[in-house]
Amino acid sequence: MKALVLSGGAGTRLRPITHTSAKQLVPVANKAVLFYGLEAIAAAGITEVGVIVGDTAVEIQEAVGDGSRFGLKVTYIPQERPLGLAHAVQIARDYLGDDDFVMYLGDNFIIGGITGIVDDFRTHRPDAQILLTQVPDPRAFGVAELDPAGQVVGLEEKPQHPKSDLALVGVYLFTPVIHDAVRAIEPSWRGELEITHAIQHLIDTKADVRSTLIKGYWKDTGNVTDMLEVNRTVLETLEPRIDGDVDEASEAIGRVVIEEGARITGSRIVGPVVIGSGTVVSNSYVGPFTSIAENCRITDSELEFSIVLRESSIDGVGRIESSLIGRHVEVTPAPGVPHAHRLVLGDHSEVRIHS
Ligand code: DAU
Repeated sequence: MKALVLSGGAGTRLRPITHTSAKQLVPVANKAVLFYGLEAIAAAGITEVGVIVGDTAVEIQEAVGDGSRFGLKVTYIPQERPLGLAHAVQIARDYLGDDDFVMYLGDNFIIGGITGIVDDFRTHRPDAQILLTQVPDPRAFGVAELDPAGQVVGLEEKPQHPKSDLALVGVYLFTPVIHDAVRAIEPSWRGELEITHAIQHLIDTKADVRSTLIKGYWKDTGNVTDMLEVNRTVLETLEPRIDGDVDEASEAIGRVVIEEGARITGSRIVGPVVIGSGTVVSNSYVGPFTSIAENCRITDSELEFSIVLRESSIDGVGRIESSLIGRHVEVTPAPGVPHAHRLVLGDHSEVRIHS
């Protein structure tokens, strides 16, 4: 069995925090979403992985390399334009050969991995197996309709009036019958060859399509609350580890990971917290559910339930909570007079000021 990981897509679809970077590399607990997917694939006993790449190919290739770090053998498959998930299957035809495969969307995050689902598929080997999860607003997803026996009878891509609250999760298991289906469909209204339509084609031609309901699912939608929440969930599973320097005037309490090359001076760190390499925290408090990425400076400040991406600096600003701070950001106090906020904010920024 092989895996096909979709890490293509156009820059224009990226959400606020990923204007300049691949959405599959958005970090959760200081690790790219895509890496969790690759680890889950390796844990399920799959080693051969085709990775679809688009505009952000260089960035993805730099991050993933040849895959050996994950115990995988990665082959990159360039996609000229994001013409749809079924198009990605079409262009991977030669790579996939006649093997069964799991298709994994690189911006999806499945808490708990996919080993159970892959084992289940290997045992029963239906023509296709899809994963579903309940979501509050299914209109941004593929949506499944089930009959009373729980069998999938219909799938719609981003319907205005969803027939259920069961969204298609971005992990699909296929036998080679999918190759005929992806050739049988036409582009959708959004000009893409939809995998949803290819699976509907399988259902219409009486193929055996099964579904499994899962919990613990997240996808980067640009929703900061959800992102902080998934970060919290993952931080709660961290194995504490202090490889960096914590001076005698500091304390690190609970589930705390301090990466090698990080330095903590005169500060109090209360886990779950992860602090990336090269980051310096001084005279500060870092409280539960916070991820600080590499090469940041946190000075004379308090930070809790937040994510700070790499190379950012927060200096002398009091307390920050429930915040997502991008890369290369500087947060500093304004001069005392006049009493005014001074802001340089990128497109789509959001600021809540306590004054
Ligand atoms: O995330 C789950 C949803 O993924 C499903 O519920 C939908 O049924 C499915 O169509 C898909 O919807 P999205 O519109 O959210 O997919 P998106 O365009 O974000 O692409 C998902 C991943 O696949 C992302 O990592 C980019 C990559 N991709 C996408 C396209 C369209 C490619 O590599 N090539 C492509 O042509």
